[in-house]
Amino acid sequence: MSFKQDSKIKFPKWPIFDENDVNALVNVIRSGNWWCGSPSVHQGENVWLFQEEFARFQEAKHCIAVSNGTVAIEAALMALGVGLGDEVIVSDYTFVASASAVIASNAVPIFCDINPESLVMDVNKIESLITERTKAIIPVHLGGNPVEMDKLMEIAKANNLSVVEDCSHAHGSRYKGKRLGNWGDAGTFSFQASKILTSGEGGAIICSSDVLADKIYSYTDCGRRKNDYSYNHYSYGTNYRMGEFQAAMLRAQLNKLPAQHKLRNKNAIFFRDKLNSIDGIQVMKLTPGTNECGYYFYPIVFEPEKFGRLTKEKFYKRLNENNIPTDDCYPPLHSLHCFKEIKLKKNIDYSKANWGGKKSNDKNFPVVSNIYSRSIEFPHEMLLSSENELNLVVEYIKSLK
Ligand SMILES: Cc1ncc(COP(=O)(O)O)c(C=O)c1O
Repeated sequence: MSFKQDSKIKFPKWPIFDENDVNALVNVIRSGNWWCGSPSVHQGENVWLFQEEFARFQEAKHCIAVSNGTVAIEAALMALGVGLGDEVIVSDYTFVASASAVIASNAVPIFCDINPESLVMDVNKIESLITERTKAIIPVHLGGNPVEMDKLMEIAKANNLSVVEDCSHAHGSRYKGKRLGNWGDAGTFSFQASKILTSGEGGAIICSSDVLADKIYSYTDCGRRKNDYSYNHYSYGTNYRMGEFQAAMLRAQLNKLPAQHKLRNKNAIFFRDKLNSIDGIQVMKLTPGTNECGYYFYPIVFEPEKFGRLTKEKFYKRLNENNIPTDDCYPPLHSLHCFKEIKLKKNIDYSKANWGGKKSNDKNFPVVSNIYSRSIEFPHEMLLSSENELNLVVEYIKSLK
């Protein structure tokens, strides 16, 4: 079967935009207020309003908008007091930023293997990674699928650890009745171009503690305090502010998100059931207790023996050749060059980490290494198409056998 010549297959292109997005940007240009100013003297309104609107969507008390999802994690860690030589437990199956933010805060990431069905951090493996240096855990809700946050929070409380949920894939995900990002001390989001809520670049941190929100705000706005003279700088801080253009775009995009989120959740059930009917395909299993999923992407794991021993690269390239957008998943963090070679920051001792040199051997991270070698991902915009289109994808996958 070839879709190239005769297929009616059409997936929405991401990002999806309309005149409301165009007007949002034009309005900022015309207003002449191209940055947000300070909390006491607003220049533009969009950043301040976006913070309120996104907090409402995520059912959070506070939201601090920042320039991207990487610095969102760093700011949360810094505000929680994570620093020099502290260890932070991070899922091994994620984008590099979940760990590079730990490096940026002068701490040491420790990688945790994954659950083979949900593909997120295996909470049963956390306790064995805790040492006297452990200060925090970063659960990453890969593809929007929740880490078992109730169990993780029990472990964190028992060991006095902070928790920063990396929700870069999990806008709108809900676990056991609570939106993700509200289980830990803080939840961080990315609005980078491929994300389900985007302004090209952007990020945010949500939290419930007033004290923590003030600290995060201060760190991301040059050490200032809210409603204070703007040349008073009370602590070490940097400029991670979001601009008005990003915030205006995000406000326009946020209006579209609830309907898109609903459609993705509906189509994901159809797609899952169809894919599950193919012998040799395993779909990402939602963690029991998941009420809604962000579905930043939809990973599947295949058994090469059931597909004529196809390699992963051939598997997704064949799909690409037929206009089906698929890609490789993230290489596990332990396998990245930067974590094999241990030349990250001067004067920081990475020798006790569970990666680097021989420790980065796949055998030490057996589940993620095995899953990675056989997994591919579909982008979230596929789940905004119709059942007819998703069915064609399923039929094509069957034809690869
Ligand atoms: C899991 C995860 N964490 C963090 C980030 C970092 O976000 P950003 O690219 O906005 O810095 C990303 C994004 O790409 C991500 O996928």
